[in-house]
Amino acid sequence: MKIGILTSGGDCPGLNAVIRGAVLKGITQHDLEFVGIRDGWKGLVDADLIPLARPQVMGISKQGGTILGTSRTNPFEYGGVARVKEVMAENGMDAIIAIGGEGTLAAAKRLTDEGIQIVGVPKTVDNDLSATDYTFGFDTAVEIATEAMDRLRTTGDSHGRCMVAEVMGRHVGWIALHSGMAAGAHAILIPERKTSMDEICGWVNSARERGRAPLIVVAEGFKLDTMDDAHSERGLDAFGRPRLGGIGDMLAPEIEARTGIETRATTLGHIQRGGTPTAYDRVLATRYGMAVVDSILEGHWGRMVALRGTQIVNVPFEDALGRLKTVPQSRYDEAAVLFG
Ligand code: F6P
Repeated sequence: MKIGILTSGGDCPGLNAVIRGAVLKGITQHDLEFVGIRDGWKGLVDADLIPLARPQVMGISKQGGTILGTSRTNPFEYGGVARVKEVMAENGMDAIIAIGGEGTLAAAKRLTDEGIQIVGVPKTVDNDLSATDYTFGFDTAVEIATEAMDRLRTTGDSHGRCMVAEVMGRHVGWIALHSGMAAGAHAILIPERKTSMDEICGWVNSARERGRAPLIVVAEGFKLDTMDDAHSERGLDAFGRPRLGGIGDMLAPEIEARTGIETRATTLGHIQRGGTPTAYDRVLATRYGMAVVDSILEGHWGRMVALRGTQIVNVPFEDALGRLKTVPQSRYDEAAVLFG
């Protein structure tokens, strides 16, 4: 049996560990053959394939990014089902392992409905995919954000400044919640909870009154209670012009003006997605890679591997689609006990 592997959507530390886990288990235990598909669905449509055997996966679990490359190409807008079937037939490919987030899994589901044999591996640093407790890449992003905030704290302390760290999280605040708790932030601002400037400045002032240099973590998708949908992430500023900076850059001068505390913002951006995965992410990703081989052998087309507690299970693609896993109010309230 010959299996194509592709990585699609934004990259994420741990992708290479999935590839290695699948290839090593498939080759050594089950005599499977693998082929790498370059740049996501695009490479499938373009028949851009590379060899994928033991030599190609040696030592890659610690490498960030993806050795296969990735793109956000949608196979229904580029190439179509007939072309995907044609490339698979011409190259003797029996099935595909699609490693990706919601968009990738949605395309994988539609292709499976058209009779193409696909199994999935969930991926997102944001940890917002339903149906799995954790996605690999999240732990690495939290680690990087936490370390960055520890660093921001010492410079903030030295100057008596308020430091604002903007982290990833377009729709959910998991990275902000976890890194904020780990770093002891005085406020955690997430998309799930609109907050007023008065409340934010209250937290800043109370940290200052306790002799602390205030540290705030804000998820990129956070909105003030005065912002409506027109002020979407990467959207418009207060004057209806394209906003150049992120939410952190927008908040910092306002906090400074209202509290009188000198304030600086740092946007961590893609640093959170780059570089070597943590040991936790390597283990989770490797287990996903090995488990997805079992899914293939059992013919679990249209399903993806997922983490439930400590067990790897497999669930239908649709369980991961349509609704994001948001931060529950109770988790936010728990973290907020530490703000004041
Ligand atoms: O979904 C993962 C994510 O890292 C988001 O947190 C972020 O908003 C987005 O991808 C960035 O996407 P891009 O790499 O296309 O700029």
